[in-house]
Amino acid sequence: MSAGSGPPRHVHIETFGCQMNEYDSELVRALLKREGFLLTEDRERADVILMNTCAIRENAHTKVYTHLADLKALKKTRPLVVGVLGCMAQNLKEELTKQEPLVDLLAGPDSYRQLPMLIRNAADAQELGEHVKSLAVDLSEYETYDDIVPSRIPGVNAWIAVMRGCDNFCSFCVVPYTRGRERSREPQGILEEASRVAAEGFKQITLLGQNVNSYRSGDWDFARLLTAVADIRGIERVRFTSPHPKDFPASLLEAVVFHPNICKHIHLPVQSGNDRILAMMNRTYTRAEYLTLVERIRSMNSRIVLTTDIIAGFCSETDEEFAHTYRLLEEVRYHSAFIFLYSERTNTIAARKYADDVAQEIKSRRVTALVELQRRISTERNREYLGETLPVLVEGDAKKSHLQAMGKSDGNITVVWEKGNVPCRPGQMVACSIYDASASTLYARVTDLSQHSTPKNAQSCTKIVQP
Ligand code: 5AD
Ligand code: SF4
Repeated sequence: MSAGSGPPRHVHIETFGCQMNEYDSELVRALLKREGFLLTEDRERADVILMNTCAIRENAHTKVYTHLADLKALKKTRPLVVGVLGCMAQNLKEELTKQEPLVDLLAGPDSYRQLPMLIRNAADAQELGEHVKSLAVDLSEYETYDDIVPSRIPGVNAWIAVMRGCDNFCSFCVVPYTRGRERSREPQGILEEASRVAAEGFKQITLLGQNVNSYRSGDWDFARLLTAVADIRGIERVRFTSPHPKDFPASLLEAVVFHPNICKHIHLPVQSGNDRILAMMNRTYTRAEYLTLVERIRSMNSRIVLTTDIIAGFCSETDEEFAHTYRLLEEVRYHSAFIFLYSERTNTIAARKYADDVAQEIKSRRVTALVELQRRISTERNREYLGETLPVLVEGDAKKSHLQAMGKSDGNITVVWEKGNVPCRPGQMVACSIYDASASTLYARVTDLSQHSTPKNAQSCTKIVQP
């Protein structure tokens, strides 16, 4: 089928934000290919540029506006359809349509099936010298794109979305508004997709959802699903993100602790260490309840890697309340933490109910204090691996040098080594003897290359195929 009235159109997709957006771009690629569009990595060749956007924090938002400004110049030089997809399209439809004459189409996260039609309408109008804005931003209670096989880039890790949306309404968070109500896919479709990616040669699967551990379909809960995926032949590692601390039944902890293919890493976003702020955030747990969960996890396996998300400078947070968060970091000693400065998002409960009244310098100072503390703790944590030998899944070249290779430990810590004459390939499992550590990286010598075969879809150790 041709892409509209003219010849097939070349589409270039740029993805911002979280792993769910990466996955959604794979869905969009599949949907467009099916309708005869050609995908290109080269912006210069594209007739259509789509930006899959993120609205979760102010800086994600600013990045998209900067890219849109770049496209303005490009659009003056040739016919070009510009589309905004994802969370910003959903949340800022009025602003984007009014203020950005540059944008031809908007499609929210539940409207990707309409994209081929939206692109054709915009391109046909452009050929007639007209400018139409095509919009599809309705949220759905049912859309899970279950029948679409994502168009994945060959590599080591395959993302699989198991649920979409979120019903938690944390007061700071825009996701329930941009991605709508929580809905889970049926287990059958997920397991078929997992078996297919295993057959294609992917060694790792990451199960995705805005609130992944609240997955439920009939009598399948997340623990059952996770275990069933981990049991698929050929899959060596299964990860999941992002969970909410409220949904950790014993069955899920047991699955993580005891199943050899489920990675011993739990991302456990805490957001704040103070009870008043946690209540204002609508997180539904107290500091004590959260710490009890950490205790439970560590009593089952003291070496499990825990990581977290923190927001500093939430509405009305005092110095003393901030100190509770600081002390929580000292107490839990996470392996790493994402630390964010609170940024008010349109439409959220916090934006409607609370004043964003912590001064910018105070927010920044708090973030800096937490980052410095966490860097020290991460370094100490990582130094605990000195002298140990860890199984590492090779991903590709290290960021800093193509003379070095990198991979991830089971606990999701980056491991780097000199390639020398060691011909490792992405997807290979290697044994790494750790001799040095920084806050973010373990430095190793590869001691054993014989453990596993190379996956079918591995190319060479020259490119990190997926983050
Ligand atoms: N401001 C700052 N950080 C935020 N997050 C979500 N919304 C906001 C906001 N408005 C952070 C939370 C969440 C992570 C994905 O992003 O820490 O866990
Ligand atoms: Fe946002 Fe809270 Fe849902 Fe996570 S659980 S997506 S922070 S509303």
